[in-house]
Amino acid sequence: MQTEQIKSLVKESYGKIAKVKNQNFNSCCDSSGCCSDGDDFTSMAVNYDNVEGYQEAADLSLGCGLPTHIANIQKGDTVLDLGSGAGNDVFVARSIVGETGRVIGIDMTPEMVIRALQNNQKLGFKNVEFHLGEIENMEGIGDETADVVISNCVMNLVPNKVKAFTEVFRVLKTGGHFSISDIVYRGELPKGILEASELYAGCVAGASEQGNYLGIIKSAGFKNMEIKQERLIELPDNLLLQHLNETELNAFKNSDSGIYSITVYAEKLEEGKCCEATESSCCGSEIKTKATLQPEKQAGSACCGTTSIEKKGACCG
Ligand SMILES: C[S@@+](CC[C@H](N)C(=O)[O-])C[C@H]1O[C@@H](n2cnc3c(N)ncnc32)[C@H](O)[C@@H]1O
Repeated sequence: MQTEQIKSLVKESYGKIAKVKNQNFNSCCDSSGCCSDGDDFTSMAVNYDNVEGYQEAADLSLGCGLPTHIANIQKGDTVLDLGSGAGNDVFVARSIVGETGRVIGIDMTPEMVIRALQNNQKLGFKNVEFHLGEIENMEGIGDETADVVISNCVMNLVPNKVKAFTEVFRVLKTGGHFSISDIVYRGELPKGILEASELYAGCVAGASEQGNYLGIIKSAGFKNMEIKQERLIELPDNLLLQHLNETELNAFKNSDSGIYSITVYAEKLEEGKCCEATESSCCGSEIKTKATLQPEKQAGSACCGTTSIEKKGACCG
């Protein structure tokens, strides 16, 4: 599929979701046509109930992580949320930056921006903005605008990830950082899944292989890259069986391949400045993984088996 076709499909799907859905429907897939009818696909969204600043009306359960949790946002910061949807993470970030900060959400789907603006109107925040625009070309956002960039389950939907991460680098202040939750896969994903365009809008078929994804971030110039959280996404058999036969399904389940939600952190450092010393060689050439929710799927990991992302980075040194 061509880039523009993919984007139209994504826009159409999220436009429908923004118009018809109340909060707390299934992540990515729903009855609006994003995925096939009858899919029950609840495994990606994270529970925000106890998160400071959470606004139920802005939560369409479209995320796959909690990027604000490890984003180290400070009072007074300017935060940019890419693919902000109805504003879920924007309002969480607003509760941290307070009156003196600024939070900007960007989304390419007009219906989502309208919904986010309506939510903000009710809340009355003067330092929250929602812009209609594409992550790959953030014309309205100047160089070195943001202290922190966040994003939740969006980059996998962006066909040109190189351009997107180049833009993230441009709009971040030197010394700033990002925290991005996203979907990636490890190993070989069966062809049937990759080719299913309806799953594309459902966050899976547009996902990149993890190593390629991290390579794009590194090539954009980011340092101190770290996977802070990760979680295996269990796709239901009835969904997989729409794209695989029984034999392929069993082979997939018994392989090391899998789809993961990860939250990646990385920094934009002053040119020539190297990253903090780690056991690995300098400047993010090795990726540190601090916490895992599914250690059995992580090859070679000596990580502990925490079951809550609330224990961010508590294990694994
Ligand atoms: C899975 S939803 C996540 C929404 C929000 N981050 C949340 O967690 O509720 C993906 C959102 O990204 C937006 N999006 C996808 N591709 C985009 C792009 N290239 N530029 C801007 N927004 C995009 C969609 O319109 C949609 O609102």
